[in-house]
Amino acid sequence: MKFKKKNNQTHPLTWRIRKDKKPIWIEEYCKKKGYKIAEETLNNMNSKEIILIIKNSELKGRGGGGFPTGIKWELMSKVNISKDKYIICNADEMEPGSYKDKLLIEQLPHLLIESIIIAAFALKAQQGYIFLRGEYIKANINLQKAIKEAINAGFIGNKIFNTKFNFKLNIHTGAGRYICGEETALLNSLEGKRAIPRHKPPFPALVGFLGKPTCINNVETLCNIPGIIKYGPEWYKGLSKSNDYGTKIMGFSGKVNNPGVWEMPFGTTAREILEKYAKGMCKKVKLKAWQPGGASTALLTEKHLDTPMDFTNILKIGSRLGTGVALAIDDKINILSLIKNIEKFFSRESCGWCTPCRDGLPWIVKILNKLEKKQGNKKDIKILRDLCSHIKNGTTFCAHAIGAITPLQSAMKIFYQEFKYSLK
Ligand SMILES: Cc1cc2nc3c(=O)[nH]c(=O)nc-3n(C[C@H](O)[C@H](O)[C@H](O)COP(=O)(O)O)c2cc1C
Ligand code: SF4
Repeated sequence: MKFKKKNNQTHPLTWRIRKDKKPIWIEEYCKKKGYKIAEETLNNMNSKEIILIIKNSELKGRGGGGFPTGIKWELMSKVNISKDKYIICNADEMEPGSYKDKLLIEQLPHLLIESIIIAAFALKAQQGYIFLRGEYIKANINLQKAIKEAINAGFIGNKIFNTKFNFKLNIHTGAGRYICGEETALLNSLEGKRAIPRHKPPFPALVGFLGKPTCINNVETLCNIPGIIKYGPEWYKGLSKSNDYGTKIMGFSGKVNNPGVWEMPFGTTAREILEKYAKGMCKKVKLKAWQPGGASTALLTEKHLDTPMDFTNILKIGSRLGTGVALAIDDKINILSLIKNIEKFFSRESCGWCTPCRDGLPWIVKILNKLEKKQGNKKDIKILRDLCSHIKNGTTFCAHAIGAITPLQSAMKIFYQEFKYSLK
């Protein structure tokens, strides 16, 4: 099926964004077809039909893991142990260098709300929470205002759009821990408990918030829903240049001329993002390495720039798409110092629940400190490798520690000389 290339069909997430970057409030949002898709969906579709469309679109979660949203929704829809079900929007976004969800929340709060309403209806959830990064002050203010507007317009509350569907939505701001982004630690935090990950299984779809079935999705994942419902899975798949479908908010930060994030088709190469969108590296610096999607993704080099940015292709070259917001590391940066800073962050953010992470990460930082001061020896490098070998699937309770050592391991592979030069 061929579609006329209108902006709302090529950039379903961001087409409403204003040039002056001011938030789109309800009046303007409704003028730009806002809440129409929710109204039509709630009046004309049932849960099964919506979930089938999302499943067929092969939408993958944008929170970093890329888990198929339709499958997650289907799983939850089959759980009938409780009438109380919850939908939670993960807006914690604490990955260093990532600000894609911030853009959507600050400028398009009603798109997020409309998306959550459709998701809640499909999942039969009558209560939703947006777990928002506490430091996102502006996003919080904008979301609060938008929720009030939506309540006043009758889009949140009882008998939404003259249907039998009732839905409440609240914001919960995090207190500033990276681990709260991990979905089960998020649930503990939301329940007022210590933010440590829970054992999985049972998955939140079965036993989630307050022990009830809960669906947790990332902001960007949810914002894809209205477009998919409106134009269908075939259209959605056709947006992409690769086999991971739809568009993705991606970008570059670091010493580039125009740091930022933009919506583009999956499969756009990293080179195109760096050169066309981010306008290349700043004067007097060259690209030395880059991380495709946050501090927890493996380092790549110039030779990888022509790789299509998507879950599958970035995995093939030894890294992860993560958030899709890349960091350019320039030739003036000392790799060892960069990695030390990254490890310091992850070490500080360990929730302390398991030994390899709680004790291993600070030990790694200690060694990297020594190496940075050229006070290390060969044994230190061996210990670094040894410590990393104890952090893998099955030895830690969540993926935090694995994400933490990933940039270190890749740096030791690609820039081993720099580690060697740092010895006494
Ligand atoms: C340490 C850690 C931090 C995470 N932080 C976030 C986050 O800030 N935002 C997010 O959406 N997902 C984050 N995730 C992934 C979530 O656990 C979960 O997979 C995601 O919210 C599911 O949404 P999705 O299926 O829409 O991607 C994190 C995972 C780990 C292990
Ligand atoms: S890996 Fe780290 S963050 Fe995850 S549960 Fe263990 S101690 Fe906590």
